[in-house]
Amino acid sequence: SLEQIPRAAPDRILGLTEQFARDTRRQKVNLTVGVYKDGWGQVTTFPSVARAQKLIDSDFELNTDLSYLPITGCPEYSSAVLSFLFGESCPQVGPRLLEEGRVSFAQTLSGTGALAVASKLLALFLSRTVWISEPSWPNHQNIFRSNGFTDLRTYPYYQNGRLVVDEWLEKLKTEVRKDPETRHSIILHACCHNPTGLDPTREEWVRILDTVHELGMIPILDMAYQGLESGNPPADAYVLRMALDEKRYKCWPNGLFVCQSFAKNMGLYGERVGSLSVVTPPAKPHVREHVDSQLKQIVRSIYSSPPGYGSRVATMVLSKSFLRMQWYKDVAFMTERLSQVRHNMHNLLKWPGLMNFQQQHGMFYYTGLSPKQVDVLRDKYSIYMTMDGRLSLSGVNDHNIDYVCEALDAVSKI
Ligand code: LMR
Repeated sequence: SLEQIPRAAPDRILGLTEQFARDTRRQKVNLTVGVYKDGWGQVTTFPSVARAQKLIDSDFELNTDLSYLPITGCPEYSSAVLSFLFGESCPQVGPRLLEEGRVSFAQTLSGTGALAVASKLLALFLSRTVWISEPSWPNHQNIFRSNGFTDLRTYPYYQNGRLVVDEWLEKLKTEVRKDPETRHSIILHACCHNPTGLDPTREEWVRILDTVHELGMIPILDMAYQGLESGNPPADAYVLRMALDEKRYKCWPNGLFVCQSFAKNMGLYGERVGSLSVVTPPAKPHVREHVDSQLKQIVRSIYSSPPGYGSRVATMVLSKSFLRMQWYKDVAFMTERLSQVRHNMHNLLKWPGLMNFQQQHGMFYYTGLSPKQVDVLRDKYSIYMTMDGRLSLSGVNDHNIDYVCEALDAVSKI
C-alpha cells in the first residue's frame, strides 16, 4: 500500500534551496546551487541569449510553432550542437566523425537528462557498473541508480586538498582487472570538476584516458561546465579532443558518451537544454542506427520529446555567427567575474583552508569545511552551502563578501 513508501532524503543541493526559501532572516545568503548570479545577486540573461530571444520573437513561424519536436529533438538544434561540439570544439577529428555518421545524438533535458538517457541505454544493453569520483556531484549516484545501474563504485579523486590521480588509477587497474567479466562505465568530469573545482593536468588526463581505454571501460564525459574553466567554450572541450585522438585510441569499442548542457554556459537553466552524443566505432553504420533507435525508444517512454523554446534559443545563438561571438564574450565575462570573486575572497579570508583556492576554477569554491562547520554557517549566520563544503561563488558580491568571509573565518576556528 501507499503506507509502505518511505520518505526519501531531501536532495542534497536543491533541498537546501527549499530550506533557504523558508529562512526569514534578513542577512541570509544562498551559496548552494550552481546558478550564476551577477554582482547584484540577480540571475542574468546573457546578452547573446536576450538578442536571440528578440530574433525569435520577431519571427512569426518560430514564435508560433508550439507543436511537438521530434523525439530526439529539433534537427536544427542537432546540427548546430553537433557542429559546435564536434566541429568547432574538436576540429581535428570531429568533422570526419560527423561525415562518417558515427555520432548518435539526442537533444536532452539538460545534462541531467543526458546522463539519465545514457545510463538507461547502458543499463539496458551494456553495463550496470559505474565508477564515480569521490567526491562528485551527488546526483550522479542518484541518476545511475534510478536508471538500472546495480553496482556503483567510487574512485579516489581528492584528498587533503589535492588530486590523487595515482591512487585513482591504481584502484581502477586492480579492481577492474579482478572482474574481467563485467563491463565497467566511468564518469569523467570534462572540466571544472564538481564539487572540487580541480581538474587533472593534460599529462594526467593522458594517463587517465590511457587507463580507461586499456581496461576497456566505457567513458561518460560529463561536460556541464564547458567554457567556465578558460572562459572559452571550444577550448574547454580538451578531454573530448584528447579522447578522440585516433592515433592514440583507435576507437572506443563500446562507445564514448558525451553529456552536455547549456544550463550554465548559456544561462538556460530552467529551459533544460542539453544533449547526449554517443560516438560509435568506425565502419559500422548499423551500430549508430541501432543506438539512434534505442535513444528514441528510451526518450519516448519517459517524456516523449524535449521542450522547444530553449533549444530554439540555443540554436539561434550557435548558428548566427554574431550571436556566437557575443556568447563567447558572455562566457568570458562570467568566468572573469567568478575569478574576481575568488581573488577578492582570497584577499579577505584569513583562515588556513585556502590551500588550493586559486587553482580551483568554475562556479564553486570547495572550502574543505566539515558538515558541522557548514551547519553552523547556516544555523548561526544564515549562509547556505552544500554539506560537502562547496560554496557557489557567484552568490558572493560586494554587498555580502565581508559578511561571508568573516563568517567563514569564524567557523574555521571551530
Ligand atoms: C549544482 O551542482 O549545483 C548544479 O549542477 C545544479 C544541480 O542540478 O545540482
